[in-house]
Amino acid sequence: MREKTLGANFEQRLSATAIQVEAALESLLSPQTRKGETRRPARLLAAMRHAALGGGKRLRPFLTIETAALFGLAPEVAMRAACAVELVHCYSLVHDDLPAMDDDDLRRGRPTVHKAYDEATAILAGDCLLTYAFEVAADPATHDDPALRVELVRLLALASGLGGMAGGQALDLEAERRQHKLSFEETLEMQAMKTGALLAHAVEAGALLGRADARQMAALLRFGRLIGQAFQIADDLLDACSDAATLGKRAGKDAERNKATVIAMLGLDGAEQRRDALIEDAVAELQSLDFGTRADALIEAARFVAGRRS
Ligand code: IPE
Ligand code: IPE
Ligand code: MG
Ligand code: MG
Ligand code: MG
Repeated sequence: MREKTLGANFEQRLSATAIQVEAALESLLSPQTRKGETRRPARLLAAMRHAALGGGKRLRPFLTIETAALFGLAPEVAMRAACAVELVHCYSLVHDDLPAMDDDDLRRGRPTVHKAYDEATAILAGDCLLTYAFEVAADPATHDDPALRVELVRLLALASGLGGMAGGQALDLEAERRQHKLSFEETLEMQAMKTGALLAHAVEAGALLGRADARQMAALLRFGRLIGQAFQIADDLLDACSDAATLGKRAGKDAERNKATVIAMLGLDGAEQRRDALIEDAVAELQSLDFGTRADALIEAARFVAGRRS
């Protein structure tokens, strides 16, 4: 009963944050030009809005905001850093769905950006969402300490690029095309890069804003990496066991495309067990810090990663 109540509160908190994130992204992606811009090309902006607005769980911004809250920061203080992470995530989805990558038609219950617009527009919309993320993070409105902003930008770049999300996507595609069959350890590394790095950065960004000390930062990063690993296993389980109507994206595509997944290596039960064990390790990391009940939202978020249905 108590768990149920906590769960309901958590989902309310997640959707309340999603509404605030949506409003912040709406304002960032308004047709109004900003200082330094002469024009926002309408079709390109519409494609960016299609990618970034009106859907998504907004889990990454939630993690940034709730990690910052551990240190007593109000949601609005962390909102721009949270939006920067979500902009990178939305770009990654646009490019992930392209014909040259996973070739998907459905995302968040709607046509993918290259279907609703065209491929060139989808590539450029992804480019613009990615570059905009760095502009947002670097802007003085994000934090008054320039050194902190530079660190935010550096860590976001590290999580997104060659040794992070984009690098992991390259390894994912190489494995799918059988250019290199991945071992179990390599599959875990690929997933840690393509998905774990940005999720962990969402936590890291909140910790940076909160001026976490070295011990707190290390434990929070371990927490982020553990839920990142579990998140991709959960995504793969949903792909294997759910349906497009529930997910808002096509299901059954990983097996069809011969993707390297933990399920392919451990089976469904093995993958579920691994997902749940990772979450419990993540929760233990948080509990090793002395945040008391302030950590409840993040603990619930970790459990949500394992229990989510979409
Ligand atoms: C899907 O991410 C892509 C992966 C990294 C597995 P989410 O499941 O967070 O997608 P949205 O943002 O809620 O649509
Ligand atoms: C996506 O992994 C990881 C990204 C960096 C976008 P998937 O390819 O499994 O994500 P979905 O299932 O298409 O959302
Ligand atoms: Mg993919
Ligand atoms: Mg995909
Ligand atoms: Mg997937």
